[in-house]
Amino acid sequence: MKGVILAGGTGSRLDPLTKITNKHLLPIGDKPMVQWAVDALTAAGLTELMLVTGADHADDFQRLLGDDLRYGRQERPGGIAEALGLAREFVGDDRAVVMLADNIYAGSIDETIHNFERQEHGARVLLAHVRETEHLRHLGVPRMEDGRIAEIVEKPLEPPGQLAVTGLYCYGPDVFDVISELEPSGRGELEITDVNNHYVRAGTLEYDIFHGYWGDAGESIDAYYEVIDRARRPYFAGDRIQVVPLQRFEDGRGWFVELARLSLMPKQPRQTNVSFSCAGTIRGLHYHERGQDDLFVCLQGRARVVALDRDTGETFSADIGDDNFAAVYVPGNLAHGFEALTDVLMLYHVTEEYDPADPDEQGVPWDDPRVVDLWSTRSPILSERDSGT
Ligand code: G1P
Repeated sequence: MKGVILAGGTGSRLDPLTKITNKHLLPIGDKPMVQWAVDALTAAGLTELMLVTGADHADDFQRLLGDDLRYGRQERPGGIAEALGLAREFVGDDRAVVMLADNIYAGSIDETIHNFERQEHGARVLLAHVRETEHLRHLGVPRMEDGRIAEIVEKPLEPPGQLAVTGLYCYGPDVFDVISELEPSGRGELEITDVNNHYVRAGTLEYDIFHGYWGDAGESIDAYYEVIDRARRPYFAGDRIQVVPLQRFEDGRGWFVELARLSLMPKQPRQTNVSFSCAGTIRGLHYHERGQDDLFVCLQGRARVVALDRDTGETFSADIGDDNFAAVYVPGNLAHGFEALTDVLMLYHVTEEYDPADPDEQGVPWDDPRVVDLWSTRSPILSERDSGT
């Protein structure tokens, strides 16, 4: 599998920041924008990479990234699909993972690449939830039918859903034949959405949904600064919730169970707490600005862990404990809490030490409309702080 990074375009939407340089060389956090794409593809195990950019700045990229990559030069900006066309010889008979260098993914893209490895033919895209209609109007938005992509609409005035096509695409070598048949769009470019719609019509476009933070830093200056702001937050690299089943070994004496295998945790715990809660209690919700992640284990009784992604509105809930002995890893940027379905003894490994003077616990009401129906009770026992009194 080859990796192709597309870093062309005039960057007109970021003008005047792009008057003298290429958009993908602007900084995001502690590295130039393009480096995020190189790092994401390299972390996913791709070793052969090609970067396609405008002829004006190709040398700058080469100075930055060195000679381990191949470089393609686009004489004039003709769209994402045209830029990809320049990788034909490099990709050859292989398959390609294509990434737009202004797309920033916090979290792993491995799942998509692994799924594509198992996919026999066609193409694969990575979608993300986007709440704001205004953002969706700048993106490719799929119209879904029965769980499949029925069509992708590029920059729709009336977005047909709240998922967007992000800048990660997986293709077989046939993509170059598809590109050679394309006609320029209204904006005079060969559109990647037209390529993807070809696979939709053939019934072979598959997708995954990205659950970490994703941003398109090239959309506007505001969007660029929003991505920078997100990249600065310590929990930016936090991944998604994981439920880890725990195995109980029983014998005549009783039982034994492994609670946490620390090497598997994305971050190392620094403190371990146990709490007892009477049946009917809800603890939370709260989230942590400084990135404390939690690993919950319900040692006795049954508890319902609930989490909310405040950006996308996505929710999570799982009952753990007596009938489902499992640990739940919750990245601290998600608002989270739990309900004691019976009297419960709850253990949590946390990745920051608790500082009572500055606890970094940002509250979200337990009855926020996005989560209120996930609890089994409407009249929980609450702490003063959680009840907002
Ligand atoms: C491109 C694609 C669009 C996709 C977006 C992701 O838009 O055309 O479908 O959603 O990248 O960043 P462009 O950046 O060319 O406006």
